[in-house]
Amino acid sequence: SQDPRLHAIKNRIRVVPDFPKPGIMFQDITTLLLDPKAFKDTIDLFVERYKGKNISIVAGIEARGFIFGPPIALAIGAKFVPLRKPKKLPGKVISQEYILEYGRDCLEMHVGGVEHGERALVVDDLVATGGTLCAAMDLLERVGAEIVECACVIELPELKGRERLNGKPLFVLVECF
Ligand code: PRP
Repeated sequence: SQDPRLHAIKNRIRVVPDFPKPGIMFQDITTLLLDPKAFKDTIDLFVERYKGKNISIVAGIEARGFIFGPPIALAIGAKFVPLRKPKKLPGKVISQEYILEYGRDCLEMHVGGVEHGERALVVDDLVATGGTLCAAMDLLERVGAEIVECACVIELPELKGRERLNGKPLFVLVECF
């Protein structure tokens, strides 16, 4: 049976039709952040799943993976590694392009923060097509990290992002249709 905290979390996610463009039902987590109990429950559900799993890296994806990733990292005693949009990181980076519905985008990661064989968790707010999570996992694997799991607050199952993750596990709290 479902954890009783999940119902309130789902109810705090605001769906905004036609944002940022017509036909998109935007899943807005800023309303979840306004409810300290639901926000804390969100973090706690991830921490309960990942504490004691020997994870030393939490990698958060810009932008909203920077909201959920750091409190998880602190609670499980892992370092936080930001995966950023291009030209934001000042040090030496590696880059991974990925395909969007229209065009392409890119994620970058500083080299030097990850050691070979470290166990990594990838965190974002939402998985849609899965392209962003794939790029994030590629960056971490290129420097020798082992992906333990991807963790998102929301999944849009109709977009079948899970099937694109090359068998890597995906854990989500809420499905939205
Ligand atoms: C959203 C979301 C994920 C990504 C998921 O980010 O926060 O990062 O899309 O999509 P995918 O599974 O199809 O790859 P967005 O593109 O809105 O960028 P932002 O966080 O910089 O606003």
